[in-house]
Amino acid sequence: MTEPIIQVKDVTFAYNAETPNPITALRNVSLDIMPGDYLAIVGHNGSGKSTLAKHFNALLQPTEGDVFVKGLNTKQIDNTLAIRSTVGMVFQNPDNQIVATVVEEDVAFGPENLGVPPNELRERVDWALRLTSLTDVRKRAPHLLSGGQKQRVAIAGVLAMKTAVVVFDEATAYLDPVGRDDVLDVARDMNSRGLTVITITHFMHEVLDANRVIVMEGGQIVMQGTPQEIFCRIDELRELQLDVPQTTDLASRLSKRVPGIRGNLLTVEETAEAILGAARARKGAVT
Ligand SMILES: Nc1ncnc2c1ncn2[C@@H]1O[C@H](COP(=O)(O)OP(=O)(O)O)[C@@H](O)[C@H]1O
Ligand SMILES: [Mg+2]
Repeated sequence: MTEPIIQVKDVTFAYNAETPNPITALRNVSLDIMPGDYLAIVGHNGSGKSTLAKHFNALLQPTEGDVFVKGLNTKQIDNTLAIRSTVGMVFQNPDNQIVATVVEEDVAFGPENLGVPPNELRERVDWALRLTSLTDVRKRAPHLLSGGQKQRVAIAGVLAMKTAVVVFDEATAYLDPVGRDDVLDVARDMNSRGLTVITITHFMHEVLDANRVIVMEGGQIVMQGTPQEIFCRIDELRELQLDVPQTTDLASRLSKRVPGIRGNLLTVEETAEAILGAARARKGAVT
C-alpha cells in the first residue's frame, strides 16, 4: 500500500505557546496527503490554512501531535534539510520571494542551497525556466517583470529544487487573471507529471482542478471530499463565508426551478450541457 507523503497526526498549534496569551491556530488536525494528490485547502481568513501549510515543510512544528514528511518527523532538526528537499512552498507575494538580481540566479538559489552540484544545477535551472516559460527572460532583472512572471520565477525556483510536493499558499492572490491562469497551468502540469500539489486559494474555480478539498474553520478541518462533494453543500459553504464557483451557483439555482438540472455541476461545459438538455426536454414536452 502507498504511504502518505505527508502525514498530519492530531496536530494542535499555538502561536506564543509559552506566553500567557497563546493563540491557538490549529486544533486536533489530522490529514494524510498521498503522492500525486492535488489537494485544495479553503477557508476564510484566519482559519489556519497558512499555519497548516507551514507545518508541511517544518517552518513550524506542532505544539501537540506530529507531522511526518516521507516518514520523517518535522520536530527533529536533523530531518529539516530532507524535509525541505521534499516540500517546496510558493507564497502570496512574489516580491518577498525573490532574492537575486537576475532571473536565472534567483531560480538557482534554492537548489544551490540544497547542495546540488554545478552541472546538475545548470540543467535544473534550464528545465525549470522552460517549464515556466521564462527562458526568454532568464537574464533579466526579476523586479522588471510582471507580477505573473515574478510569481513564475518563484515557482521555477521551487521546481528547480525538484521537491516531490509543492505548496501554493495563495500564490495567485496578487496576480491579474492572466497571471493567475499562468500559475494554474504550471500547477496542473506539475501534477500531471506526478508531483503532489497543495493549493491554498480564495478563488473557488481554482479548486475544481483538485482531486480533494479540505475546508478549514477555526483551526479545524470541517469538511473534506472531492470538489463535487464539497460544492454541492452550498448552504454550509455560505455559512463558512465561502463562495462557490459561479457555475455551481448557477446550476444550484437552476436546479431549484428547472426539472432535470442537477445542483452539483462544476464546469462551464457540464452546466451548458445540462441547460441545453433541459431546454431540449422542455421543447419535446411542448410539441
Ligand atoms: N505569526 C503569528 N503570530 C500570532 N498569531 C498568528 C500568526 N500568524 C497567524 N496567526 C493567527 O493564527 C490564526 C490562523 O492564521 P493563518 O494560519 O494565517 O490563517 P489563514 O492562512 O487561513 O488566513 C489567526 O488567528 C491568525 O491571527
Ligand atoms: Mg494564509
